[in-house]
Amino acid sequence: MRPQLIIALDVDSLAQAQKIVAELGNAIEIFKVGSQLFTAAGSESIKNLQAQHKKVFLDLKFHDIPNTVASAVKAVVHLQVFMYTLHTVGGKEMMKAAAEAATQASRDLGVPRPLGVGVTVLTSEARKENLRDLVLERASLAKEAGLDGVVASVEEAGFIRREFGKDFVIVTPGIRPAGTEVGDQKRVATPAEAVRQGSNFLVVGRPVLQASNPQEAVEKILAEFG
Ligand code: C5P
Repeated sequence: MRPQLIIALDVDSLAQAQKIVAELGNAIEIFKVGSQLFTAAGSESIKNLQAQHKKVFLDLKFHDIPNTVASAVKAVVHLQVFMYTLHTVGGKEMMKAAAEAATQASRDLGVPRPLGVGVTVLTSEARKENLRDLVLERASLAKEAGLDGVVASVEEAGFIRREFGKDFVIVTPGIRPAGTEVGDQKRVATPAEAVRQGSNFLVVGRPVLQASNPQEAVEKILAEFG
């Protein structure tokens, strides 16, 4: 699988999101809708992207009782997003309920099943002792529960790839091209390093959204894909 760049539409309105999408044109195929845009603009933000033939990564990091998460995932399938997130700390039973709901709902509706990925440890959390073990443990649970992969930092991507094989999806936020602000992120890496470590999807927000020329910022990141 060739690695792909996902731009996080972490903005306050549909109008702002549309502006960025228009600016980036054909360079980007997948956009992330997270809690900020989804809370402000709802499912309209997803439909709007799809109307422009863009794929949507819905990053709402579900973490609730299994029944509620399964129902939310069913709604995700209705929205026909490409990929969605849940929190691995929700436990194996919750992740399993989500994975089964995705399979069942997509069969019932006759639509493609979205990829389900579990957030392991947020990239804004500092390095701590036994982080690898924690990420590994959570990634194992995600795999056993039937999820397609995980969200992790680039620092853990390499060993996740070695441990879980080539078909396990790895999504890496915390990407910072040389010379850009780190912000609240702690475990950061360059796009080139993310690709080298086996990331499938690189999620980038502020380095593009806050760039004086977002299009140029994207081109620079893509040039690092090699
Ligand atoms: O602006 P920045 O490039 O730091 O944005 C990273 C994006 O990835 C944000 O939208 C954030 O919600 C998301 N994310 C993250 N860490 C995770 C999962 C998702 O930073 N573990």
